[in-house]
Amino acid sequence: ANDGYDLWLNYIKIENKTLLDKYNKAFNGYYITGNSETLKAAENELKRAFSGLLGTKPKVLNSITNNCIVLATKNESVLNGQIYAKDYEALGKEGFIIRSVKINSKTCTLITANTDIGILYGVFHFIKLIQTQQISNKLTITEIPKLDIRALNHWDNLDGSIERGYAGNSLWKWDELPNTVDKRYIDYARANASVGINATVLNNVNSNPKILTKSYLEKVKALADVFRPYGLKVYLSVSFTSPIKLGGLPTADPLNPQVIDWWEAKAEEIYTLIPDFGGFLVKANSEGQPGPQDYGRTHADGANMLAQALELYKGVVMWRAFVYNSDPEEDRVLQAYNSFKPLDGQFKDNVLVQIKNGPIDFQPREPFSPLFGAMPNTSLMMEFQITQEYLGFSNHLVFLSTLYEETLDSDTYAKGKGSTVANVIEGKYSSNKLTGMAGVSNIGNSRNWCGHPFAQSNWYSLGRLAWNPETSSESIADDWIRMTFSNDKEFIVPVKKMMLESRETTVDYMTPLGLNHIMAYDTHRGPGPWVDTAAQPNWKSTYYHRADSIGIGFDRTTSGSNAVSQYYPAVRDTFNSIETCPENLLLWFHHVSWKHKMKSGNTLWDEMCQHYYNGVDKVRKMQSSWNKLKSFIDDERFNKVKQLLEEQQEEAVIWRNSCVLYFQTFSKMPIPGELERPE
Ligand code: GCU
Repeated sequence: ANDGYDLWLNYIKIENKTLLDKYNKAFNGYYITGNSETLKAAENELKRAFSGLLGTKPKVLNSITNNCIVLATKNESVLNGQIYAKDYEALGKEGFIIRSVKINSKTCTLITANTDIGILYGVFHFIKLIQTQQISNKLTITEIPKLDIRALNHWDNLDGSIERGYAGNSLWKWDELPNTVDKRYIDYARANASVGINATVLNNVNSNPKILTKSYLEKVKALADVFRPYGLKVYLSVSFTSPIKLGGLPTADPLNPQVIDWWEAKAEEIYTLIPDFGGFLVKANSEGQPGPQDYGRTHADGANMLAQALELYKGVVMWRAFVYNSDPEEDRVLQAYNSFKPLDGQFKDNVLVQIKNGPIDFQPREPFSPLFGAMPNTSLMMEFQITQEYLGFSNHLVFLSTLYEETLDSDTYAKGKGSTVANVIEGKYSSNKLTGMAGVSNIGNSRNWCGHPFAQSNWYSLGRLAWNPETSSESIADDWIRMTFSNDKEFIVPVKKMMLESRETTVDYMTPLGLNHIMAYDTHRGPGPWVDTAAQPNWKSTYYHRADSIGIGFDRTTSGSNAVSQYYPAVRDTFNSIETCPENLLLWFHHVSWKHKMKSGNTLWDEMCQHYYNGVDKVRKMQSSWNKLKSFIDDERFNKVKQLLEEQQEEAVIWRNSCVLYFQTFSKMPIPGELERPE
């Protein structure tokens, strides 16, 4: 049985006999120097993979022989100058090389790096090559991560619940820790290391100050100890008023000397327990969370005070830019940019400003946040959401890699054409050295980790894109399918197609043509264009979509809220004109007449209906594709996906019918004849 617990580290024996023999011959054992915890983890992983994939136990060799794998860091004498010093220099702390080489005239596969973590990453990469059956005769691989901090953000509460979590409760068993350390934490760390995720923020951004008490810090230490061999550093979300709540101080003013002392003492306490503690993630002055503005100070004042406390230990502060207020007259889209752009250059070197991909909130489609490219003197990191808050929870099959890719590939024009968001977060245009990407985790304690078997691919993609933001979704999907399910082309081709189209399908039945935030109130599940979705008491139900008898969409052009002007001129002009604005963002930037002629020749109204109907049709196509694949995989996962697709289909119909009928009360136009069909 396969319950999905093994994720993409699913080491099932290779069926193809020829290949099996070939691999068994080429890799008959391994030679390893050093014995750190990290190298032991690498060794264990190799053993596990060999016994699963190749059905053999690799020999542990005392010397290098033909057809062996050599695991050795830079300074090991056995290497005999195999790799140039400058190549090692380029690898940094986490990069690795996998190369077919001859050492003492023995043909072998060398996995080398500057550090043990580099070796572990190399081993995972090597295993992936076997899993995906892509071992070539002459391996020449160099991999270096393009971002420093590759993080999961867990929105896990201390009571075990998870904000916006749809795969059970938190993995962290706070009541058992630190004495009992669940074995599952190791599998969690293995999975992260396998895709290069090196940071985990354990608790919710809506943070409970208790996380910084001595007893919780001891629990955090226990987790940090388990994760350390896998290169996974622990970070915490902290509440800005911790000095009041825990320290009994009358204020949390970041310029108050007692407050500064309190944080410095707290930092010392943390680092005494966890010498490699990563740092803090902070949600401040956002959705009711306290922050420096409560004391008349700026976001920079707040971030810098915390950064100062962590600096001595090389810790960082990830300060979130997700801020907006509830002024019904103001365009929410403007606010993060307006609050943060003026602070460019004021943040200390160990601060990163963490920005959601779009200006609103993890919608099925948003334009990229204009902050990317707008703060050249600040380290900016990307925040994506892996958990499907606005995308059908873990009941809908939505491969988010294409959403991530779309944002990363967007051209900011910050330094002329080709200044993509990916380049911005890689730090190419900035003097600041820290880089990173975070994904709001979709992991819970459900047996298969993420609820939907395909939701695992979103965790996987986040890791791959954080390692290299220029990776294509196509190749990520290909690897993931092979590792998780099967190397059979007859399976890969249709499943990859399903995955790559799935996000657009969801956009079609939820929020086509640039619509957004029309989800049900509070839960964000199901349609709710008729309600105030943002819990802002004074916002009208039409706040986000602005439907009226004339048309629909939010005028953000230069004659509207002017949000377009937050982009560089080339981008601004494209979005500003109804002629050049990409149709998939049309209603984000324009209020458009129901009768407006679209590129297809349809009216806007007809086109919108088309999208809603297409969305449902495409879910049905996914169902029929999936139904043909029964023979390729185990019943357990096959049936689970089948049942979830059925639910998705039902919910897509609800989305379509609700939105079309609701918007029809404004357009007063008929649903195009060819779409009307009996259900
Ligand atoms: C969304 C989400 C909240 C979350 C917030 C955030 O608004 O609905 O649950 O706390 O984002 O990112 O801080």
